[in-house]
This record gives sequence, structure tokens and C-alpha cells, in this order.
Amino acid sequence: MKKIPVIIDCDPGHDDMMALVLAYGSQKLDIRAVTTVAGNNTIDNTTRNALNVLHYIGADHIPVAKGLQDPIVRSHKEVMEKLAENRRRMYPDQGSQEPKEKIVGASAHGITGLDGFTFPQDNPMQVQPMSAVEMMAKVLRESEEKVTLIPMGPLTNIGLLIRAFPDLVEKIERISMMGGTSEFVLTRPFMEFNTFVDPEATKIVFESGVPITMFGYDVTYRVLCGKDTIEQMEHLGNKTGHMAASLLKFFMERHNKNLSHLGLSDTTPIHDACAVAGVIDPTLVTQSKRLHLDVEIGGTYFDGATICDYAHCLNLPENVEVVYNMDTQRFLQMLVDAAANCQ
Ligand code: BDR
Ligand code: CA
Repeated sequence: MKKIPVIIDCDPGHDDMMALVLAYGSQKLDIRAVTTVAGNNTIDNTTRNALNVLHYIGADHIPVAKGLQDPIVRSHKEVMEKLAENRRRMYPDQGSQEPKEKIVGASAHGITGLDGFTFPQDNPMQVQPMSAVEMMAKVLRESEEKVTLIPMGPLTNIGLLIRAFPDLVEKIERISMMGGTSEFVLTRPFMEFNTFVDPEATKIVFESGVPITMFGYDVTYRVLCGKDTIEQMEHLGNKTGHMAASLLKFFMERHNKNLSHLGLSDTTPIHDACAVAGVIDPTLVTQSKRLHLDVEIGGTYFDGATICDYAHCLNLPENVEVVYNMDTQRFLQMLVDAAANCQ
């Protein structure tokens, strides 16, 4: 069967790791490039983590290109400080976390951005001698068919691509993104991490005219992975299963500790893998709605909040398919099968 051409833009990240395993191990996607973005951690760390995951699972041939340290308008450091401030306000009793983690990014991923597994030091993979945006443009330009973009970090690279190469926008088949939320509250009302980090890039993407499917917190906190799935990964007996199980265990512990008030006991979302799964098999989506979406960029409290116009107040065209639910069992089985297909 013909594979679907995709570019994956990521900031690994534990769920990014699982998304990469799914994308590669599913054998349904033709991964033309992996590009990196700063988000969960600095651009140096997310890029190193992406190279480590790809090498470890046997996907060395996939070209990787590095993005920028800062979002389009803001600085990564400033955004992380705001995030830490929000966390302190919302979760005052979590003051014991190490301060350094609050500066580098999402505390769910630890200091390196991918804590919980030690990768070998002798990874020969190198980044390509071009930026993430140039790499995306190259793939789109050289492709005979349209290419699907799967961003699973802040939308910085995709926003820059759209602005820098408007003539290539028509070569984008669809954007299947992990980001945004219509109702779920974690650290700010209506705020999800990826859209919070780069609201300006999110706005460019929403206004691009490219078909968008949004796998935000609405769905990712409904489709939860339990201990049994992690055990299945471990029992596969291959390198990828062991690595994925170790990292997911870490991720689950962090979620259960940091977000105990959500009742996440022995479960974890695997946000980014949802956006990949939706491309591999769109029939996994069991509930979604086409809406007009915008993003708040100038507010006191709401920067990065995704505004979903349910009541058609703005009278503007529907630009995003917002996903609310997926077939959890099939999704989790897909993750295990993909890990089994890797080395
Ligand atoms: C998103 O933020 C990151 O921490 C995850 O990797 C995911 O992309 C979830 O809000
Ligand atoms: Ca991510």
C-alpha cells in the first residue's frame, strides 16, 4: 500500500518519542523529514533527543533539521517563566520541584526533556546543514504529491514556513497538529502548552487556509494509556519496547504526581501520538467538529488560548476540525504494534 508522505515537527519530549515510534513503526507513513522546535526544552536538547530516539529505533535514514531557540515573536525563556508563574498560581503546593525544570520547560519531561532512559553516547546521526524551515520547504518543493505536516510542538517552524514560502502552502495536504484546547484547563484557561509557547505562529497556521485537524487536550486527556500498555511494550522484548516502556513510566509518574487533582491515577495521556494516529487511520476519530478557531495573542491572561467559535458569533469560515474523542483501545494497540515493528 502506498505510504502517506509526511513531515514531523517535534520537541521530544516523552509523547513526541512515542509519536515518532508510532510514525515509523506503523509502516504506513513515508517520513520525508523530522524537524525540531524548542518547546518542552531548549532547541539543543529537543534536537539531541530526536536524533537519539530515531537512531535507537533504527530510523537513522530520516533527515533531521534543527529549528530555532525562540518562538516567532517571544523568547522561549520569557514564555517558560510565564508558564512557571502560572503553575505557581494554580498549584501552590508544588513548590518543591527543582527550579531549573521550571525554566527549561514542561516539568513532565524532566531536565533533559527526555528523562527516564539513558541513550547510548555513540549516536552517529547528524542534523542536516539547513534549518528546519528550509528542510520543510525543500521536501515540499521536491515532492510530486502533497505532503501532510504533523506538528507536535509549538507551531514556530510551520508559521515561519507559511510566511517565508507562501507559494509552497498549496503543497501541504493537511496539518494534523497536537495543540490547543476548547475547554480543558491545565495552567491557564483554555491554554495548551504548544499554543501557549508560540501564539503568533498558531495564528499564522489557523489563518493559512490549509485544512487543519486539531488533536488538543479535549481528546488527548480522554485517550489515556494505562500500566497494561506499558507492560505490553516492555514484554515485546525488543530495544524500542524497552525504551518506550521506561520513558512512558517516567511520564506517567510525573503526570500522576503533578496533576493528581485530575484523578490521573496510573494513566497518562500520550498527546502527540494522537496527531500521528489520526493520519495513519482517520477512522480512529469517533467525535469531532468543524469550527472557526482563532488564538488569543494580546491578552493579559489568555495568550495562546484557542478560541473555538461554537456559537458562530464571529461569522467566519470553519478552519479547523477539532477532535474530541478517539477509539482508545485501537489507538493503544497501534502504539504497541508500532513498537514491535521497530528494532
Ligand atoms: C504538549 O506539550 C508537550 O509537553 C507535549 O510534548 C505535547 O506536545 C501537550 O500540551
Ligand atoms: Ca511535543
